[in-house]
Amino acid sequence: MSQGVALIVLGTAAAAAAHVAQRIADAVSRDPATVLGLATGGTMLPVYALLAAARQRGDLSFSAATSFNLDEYVGLGLGHAASFAAFMAGALFGPVDFDPGRTHLPNGLAPDLMAEAARYEAAILAAGPIGLQLLGIGRNGHIGFNEPGTAFDSVTRVVRLSFSTRAANRPFFPVGEAVPEQALTMGIGTILRAREIVLLATGAAKAVAVAQAIAGPAGPHSPASALRHHGAATFVCDRAAASRLDPRLWQRSVHA
Ligand code: GLP
Repeated sequence: MSQGVALIVLGTAAAAAAHVAQRIADAVSRDPATVLGLATGGTMLPVYALLAAARQRGDLSFSAATSFNLDEYVGLGLGHAASFAAFMAGALFGPVDFDPGRTHLPNGLAPDLMAEAARYEAAILAAGPIGLQLLGIGRNGHIGFNEPGTAFDSVTRVVRLSFSTRAANRPFFPVGEAVPEQALTMGIGTILRAREIVLLATGAAKAVAVAQAIAGPAGPHSPASALRHHGAATFVCDRAAASRLDPRLWQRSVHA
């Protein structure tokens, strides 16, 4: 495996999500004022459900933590059910006790999108380095909304979404409503400034993207391969998402 990338393969998607939830809980318990980088997507739902359950039991508090989400669709805000703002409100910010003033997403409704991108990047810099950045991965290897071809030193900006990314997200939109063509996203360079990065990938649909990111040639064609340059990045996969990797890379890391 390439230098700087750790790989943890767990038997099921539920076990992989539990591992990631525990890492987040540990980070917040160690430093209640930690800065988290958060992700959206179906992969994250079981992670956030476990964090919500821990909060309900009184085991965990986010009240002093700060969060920055990776991305948001241009033209959508909290009022639209498919916005990432609404996703986060439903999956995590509602169920746990974050201070609403300390949870951040790019504003997809901003009148000046370039100014909004610059504002968001500056806000991340001002909050100090993100301690733990959570990532999913797109089927084409994208992280955040950084599509193949993105420079590894890119920062928060407006991007055009690929056909495959829009198709993957279509189920979250009402029938007949187009998926936005543009989004605001942290750049790969923004993501790489985090102290620690955890990428969660579950399901066979992610297997090719995971194999390219970890074991293929690194480069902009595989945005997630940028994590190999980071030094403290971990891929957490279930067996299905790791199925295109040489088993010698992961066999010993499988737990029940
Ligand atoms: C979107 C998000 C990504 C996410 C990806 C995968 O494109 N911008 O941050 O990783 O979807 O989503 P899912 O977990 O639903 O497969």
